[in-house]
Amino acid sequence: MLKSNARLLLISFLIILGAPVNADYNEVKMAKKIDQLVSKLTLEEKALLTSGRDAWSTQPIERLDIPYIWMADGPHGLRRAPTTDTWGYGNQAPATCFPTASALSASWDMALVEEVGAALGVESNALGVDLLLGPGINIKRSPLAGRNFEYFSEDPLLSGKLGVAYINGVQGEGVGATVKHYVANNVETQRMWANSNLDDRTLNEIYMTPFEITVKEAQPWSVMACYNRVQGVYGTESLQLLTDKLKNDWGFKGFVVSDWDAVVDRVQGIRAGMHLEMPGKPARITNKMVVDAVKNNELDEKQLDAVVKDLLRIVFMGQNTEDKFGDQNIEQHHQLARKVAAEAITLLKNTKKLLPVDTAKYKKIAVLGEFAVNPRYQGNGSSQVKPTKLDKFIDIVRQEYGQDVEFVYSAGYSLANDDDLSLVDAAVEVAADADLALVMAGLPLSYESEGIDRKHIDLPPSHNKLISAVAKAQPNTAIILTNGSAIAMPWVNEVTAILETWLGGQAGAGAIADAVFGKVNPSGKLAETFPFRLEDSPAFLNFPGEDGQVIYGERMFVGYRYYDKRNIEPMFPFGHGLSYTEFSYSNLKLSSTNITDKDQLQVSLTVTNTGKVKGKEVIQLYIADKESTVQRPVKELKAFDKIELEPSESKEVRFTLNNRDFSYYSKVYGRWLAESGEFDILVGSSSRDIRLKGSLNLNNTEKLNYKMTVFSFFSEYWENPQLKPLLIDFMPKWIKAMTPEGKPVEEAKIEDFLQQQPLIKFPYFTGGEVDEQSIKAFVERTNNLTFNP
Ligand code: BGC
Repeated sequence: MLKSNARLLLISFLIILGAPVNADYNEVKMAKKIDQLVSKLTLEEKALLTSGRDAWSTQPIERLDIPYIWMADGPHGLRRAPTTDTWGYGNQAPATCFPTASALSASWDMALVEEVGAALGVESNALGVDLLLGPGINIKRSPLAGRNFEYFSEDPLLSGKLGVAYINGVQGEGVGATVKHYVANNVETQRMWANSNLDDRTLNEIYMTPFEITVKEAQPWSVMACYNRVQGVYGTESLQLLTDKLKNDWGFKGFVVSDWDAVVDRVQGIRAGMHLEMPGKPARITNKMVVDAVKNNELDEKQLDAVVKDLLRIVFMGQNTEDKFGDQNIEQHHQLARKVAAEAITLLKNTKKLLPVDTAKYKKIAVLGEFAVNPRYQGNGSSQVKPTKLDKFIDIVRQEYGQDVEFVYSAGYSLANDDDLSLVDAAVEVAADADLALVMAGLPLSYESEGIDRKHIDLPPSHNKLISAVAKAQPNTAIILTNGSAIAMPWVNEVTAILETWLGGQAGAGAIADAVFGKVNPSGKLAETFPFRLEDSPAFLNFPGEDGQVIYGERMFVGYRYYDKRNIEPMFPFGHGLSYTEFSYSNLKLSSTNITDKDQLQVSLTVTNTGKVKGKEVIQLYIADKESTVQRPVKELKAFDKIELEPSESKEVRFTLNNRDFSYYSKVYGRWLAESGEFDILVGSSSRDIRLKGSLNLNNTEKLNYKMTVFSFFSEYWENPQLKPLLIDFMPKWIKAMTPEGKPVEEAKIEDFLQQQPLIKFPYFTGGEVDEQSIKAFVERTNNLTFNP
């Protein structure tokens, strides 16, 4: 016994030791093989390799046994074209249509999103797809953005973490994932030219962070460069974005693929670090430009070699053998799609506890709204999946609850004509005659589309009218919403129960039934704020922009960061979502109330299910910087967890925070920086329902050099105890002259007007006591000094 245990131990030890060695060995072998291949490639072949063969595949080079990989959209199911050289709109292979990203994110469930990723990996293998074009992790800057349904959240941490889960799931099946669209791709209007005009801090803190998290934590095989320009440079041509950040700072090892038809200057793209232009056909023209650029010494062939090598590494990893394996698991994935859709459903309001519907009490239920027979389950554009099957709410409820309850359907509105109000009266009659009404309303397909932004956040007039009229006629009315992004609800105070079901995919109807009748206790939470009015939203004045310029005037105050800072009451805040049970929070503990930049902070708390049914809760941890020299959001999400609790059960929840969690992105230092001072740790059930609060002091022990310039302000020196004496020494006469009789020079009265002058103006104010040269030398002297931030 002892012997075999010792053997086991030895084997595990060897495995632990051997794993990295083998991985490194394989990497070295692969790199060698690729070096050799590249040395055999002609210039023309290299150019050919860095553009697609056709709509969906990379270029194989048969004479050197270089294979190709097959790519397909993404993100919430496969849109695999019949062949790599056809587009596959309408004639794509059937695949499971999972809930779209805005639904997945409402689950706040990393394990579940990973499960979806794995199912997508299985389907990719079954359909011969090597690289999936998803997830989409752009930030939801405005509720109007046409592709919000395809993205996770307004929050960078949540977007990044869910991206990691998705990628791990897909790549765990040996299929590559592609994070898109890198970066600041937040508007569809003029999407091939729009310039995202944003400052470095905002870019890093909000828009880059999801990409940084996914690259560092999940190494996606590919990153898709965006259509738009960022700070004036196309995403496909930016050395700063593609090489400095992605590759050098974050350690990205995969390849950058252009969004389809995004490339303008292919040669500059290669210089910047873009590996692959897609799709293939137009790229045939630009191949010659690449060859000519090398011949004319405008492009260093070494640079071309480097992108070819990165690309080949992934091509060999994913190579299409045309005899991929496995079953598509259609039935099993349909069930998974239902489970996922149910986990995403978000109970926005349930004042009279009408939900879950008690089938012993309500025997005749009116099901109103054409969505009951004609479901809205995904968005418009490249992500459109041809589902393997499609459930309808009216069929599901009749099948699963029809023995106990009579369901009477009335259309209420027509999806063919939004303005047609003629169907409302009949639906109201059905509602009045029933014991309870379920109104299925939301956004028709044409409202949410890639390539087009919304103009407003309203539901069609017929849906709004139906809801108000039914709520008046039938007090027991629940509203079931289907939409991929925030909407206005002018009737919010006229109804008592609202269930947000997102775009739930092909099995969404079953999931709605599960939540309505209580088979599943809703546990979704909003990953985006629902404002009362579009006018309240952060980017209202700067969306979609004009003349190709999109000004990110709200800076890092996106989503709840904006509503918090401006003290605007949202209709439903970020993180909000109710349950059929209740949870209490207690016992917040911090591992220390005094930490340094080198420490980790452990946070723990207890959550208890105080209600009568089993349920899941999403626990959210926000931090608030109480003292800061720069603007900071009121609070920022830094950790979350989802747990399940039986009635009366308690669980301890633990989080670990590190220095980055307390930091902001400093433009001056070009890096993340945590300032010493007091921070609050806020733990709650939503961004506006904080249940526990703790405080701590952070002491940053790093030594930073000052970064003053001749344009630094007098006040920056005068108000800094370390620098004030130097300033007094530098212009002693002038400061003395400003000092009231009998007072020390430290108490000199320097007017605000003078405090707010840059140093370079002081030759004038001091009447020549200092000059430009001496100011420059003075600034240099101060910049040799260090301080603790
Ligand atoms: C979209 C991408 C998509 C690609 C291929 C583009 O128009 O922006 O998200 O992956 O087409 O269909």
